[in-house]
Amino acid sequence: MKANSRRDNKLAFDVVADVYDSARPGIPCRLVTSLVRITGLAPGDQVLEVGAGSGQFTRPLRAAGPEVTALEPGDRLRALLAKHAADDPGITVRGGFFEDFTAPDGSFAAVVSANAWQWLDPAVSYRMAADLLLPGGHLALVWNFPIVADPAVQRALNEALADDYPDAVRHPETHLSGIEARAAEGRAELAASGRFEAPWWQFSTDTLTLTPDAYYDLLLSYANVAVLDDSARTNLFLLVRATLEVHGVDTVTMDNVLYAVSARKTDR
Ligand SMILES: C[S@@+](CC[C@H](N)C(=O)[O-])C[C@H]1O[C@@H](n2cnc3c(N)ncnc32)[C@H](O)[C@@H]1O
Repeated sequence: MKANSRRDNKLAFDVVADVYDSARPGIPCRLVTSLVRITGLAPGDQVLEVGAGSGQFTRPLRAAGPEVTALEPGDRLRALLAKHAADDPGITVRGGFFEDFTAPDGSFAAVVSANAWQWLDPAVSYRMAADLLLPGGHLALVWNFPIVADPAVQRALNEALADDYPDAVRHPETHLSGIEARAAEGRAELAASGRFEAPWWQFSTDTLTLTPDAYYDLLLSYANVAVLDDSARTNLFLLVRATLEVHGVDTVTMDNVLYAVSARKTDR
């Protein structure tokens, strides 16, 4: 994905850490398996994960074999991640921003990230990742983008939310094409770094089935909604609940578009 032009909300997720932990979908095991195969990761290989949150990618990745150093700057998310990983010596939790992370060059077989790479400065992120990688190591990035599967329900939510919560609006007609465009811009940033070979990438879709409350929590877990004050959150909750009730929705089915990209470090 193309890097965000503004990064001032990059720690917003920590404000809603408990909600984030319960509401955000994990990275599906089948996608993790594909990424492990494409990157050639073997059990015991060292992987650096950037922006680990509370472990949405960390845990399935670790289950696939590599040892994971999980970097998360948010204190509350990091505490949840540490709690989830407490029984696993193969996960090392570290604090701080990637831009400040130091380790000897060539420390990792892969640098990976889920839903976080766009928060980094592309002028720094690709170069740093390449330096941290072993020869032949991979940068592997993944994102997910859920949208309400029934376009009529998504449009009704858009109507209710557009004025006060424009960041909660999702357009069924352009959802996939918008993601594809930002993904292509992200691959252009990767290519411009000059440090990686032509990437492999893949789009896929899975389904999320949420209660109305879980759907509201998912909205709340996005950066621009997480920073709202209590009264704005309550108003959002009431609008979502009323709209879903009017449409007789007691289970929110969501199409979850997943995008993964992986590139091997160039030899030089
Ligand atoms: C949308 S969350 C993704 C969390 C989790 N990986 C997931 O897939 O749900 C983005 C994460 O990136 C972290 N983050 C933001 N800026 C960062 C930076 N410069 N370095 C490392 N992590 C960063 C945030 O604290 C947040 O936990």
